Amino acid sequence: MQPNPQRFLNSLHQLRSIGAVGKGVVRPAYTDKDIEARKWLAAQFAEAGLTPYFDPVGNLFGLAGDGPSLLMGSHSDTQPEGGWLDGAYGVMVALEIARAAKEAGGPDISVVSFQDEEGRYGVTTGSTVWAGGRSLEEADTLTASDGTSYAEGRAKMADLVSGDFLDPARFTGFIEAHIEQGPYLDTSGEHVGVVTSIVGIRDMRITLTGQSNHAGTTPMHLRRDAFQGLSEFNQRLNDRLRNVVLPETVWTIGHVSVHPNGSSIVPGRVMFSMQWRDGDSGRLAAMEAIIRETVAEVAEDRGLEVEFGQLLGLEPVAMDPRLQQALAHAAEAEAPGKWRRMPSGALHDTTSVARHMPAAMLFVPSINGVSHNFDEDTREEDLVVGLNVLARAVAAL
Ligand code: GLV
Ligand code: MN
Ligand code: MN
Repeated sequence: MQPNPQRFLNSLHQLRSIGAVGKGVVRPAYTDKDIEARKWLAAQFAEAGLTPYFDPVGNLFGLAGDGPSLLMGSHSDTQPEGGWLDGAYGVMVALEIARAAKEAGGPDISVVSFQDEEGRYGVTTGSTVWAGGRSLEEADTLTASDGTSYAEGRAKMADLVSGDFLDPARFTGFIEAHIEQGPYLDTSGEHVGVVTSIVGIRDMRITLTGQSNHAGTTPMHLRRDAFQGLSEFNQRLNDRLRNVVLPETVWTIGHVSVHPNGSSIVPGRVMFSMQWRDGDSGRLAAMEAIIRETVAEVAEDRGLEVEFGQLLGLEPVAMDPRLQQALAHAAEAEAPGKWRRMPSGALHDTTSVARHMPAAMLFVPSINGVSHNFDEDTREEDLVVGLNVLARAVAAL
């Protein structure tokens, strides 16, 4: 099997141009640019001899042959300010492998771009629904931070839907290539990472409600300031979590909405996202208890009301040993001594897919460990090493 690096890079840059903003890309799930990219991808799949198939949530498959096939891919939606490679690399590298496999007379490689991996409406929503981790009815009620529902989001692609959800049993396994999005490979000068496991995550919206009031006349001791509550919660939480976490445990308040958001109004309500990740489900549960307890305490102290939103999450998952081994052999052949096995701190669609079939992941380095940022980048040489490792591993499998 002979993948064509130039053809792969050209396609990757073509995808980048849809929603490009400077060096980065803005293509969140179900926006016009995301849908435009999916239509373009469907045409690329067809040109490569794959049958494009949109499922009810907008996951786009490029199906090879009629029998069982190996599935490869990732996602083409982005964060609100996304890099050009997060997801896109895995989809385009998969397409190049599928093309090369066709030219070589086999094996059959199907390709996928999952929808809403970046969690505009939840956590890896498209692959989670496809894999049965959440029912479509439940998912439809999830909301984005702009208030729109998942049902409204996916309705924007309704005219493209090819049919019902595909049976995962038609695929023999799944391999997702991705940029590392962290600093380890770049710092060590290695070219690829063979992923051993993917962390688990919990994500919950929390609302603190006090009372909006005049910022000039309301004495400090009479205020029920929701933002001050959040600020104190954050400080107390950082102190308390330090006692239960590992160095690799992470937690983030990434979205905050202050109401009514005026400089002369004591904020009466604050809604924020609380997300935490760890490789151990027990530790995730212990953190949840501390989070709930700390919010409740702060609310009590400051006369605020608390509302906890739905707890979303994915469990930690180990990668399939046989697929990992195939990737490791190929990595050693393509980058001798310049690769490592490593866990993933980012979430990936592989977590969902692994419920149904052997699944594995390959990483290439991220320059300076930057991702979810317009500056995200990877050296071209490393993008191509990843392509060659995958081709070698797939041929061996
Ligand atoms: C997916 O992009 C994640 O948040 O890890
Ligand atoms: Mn991604
Ligand atoms: Mn991402």
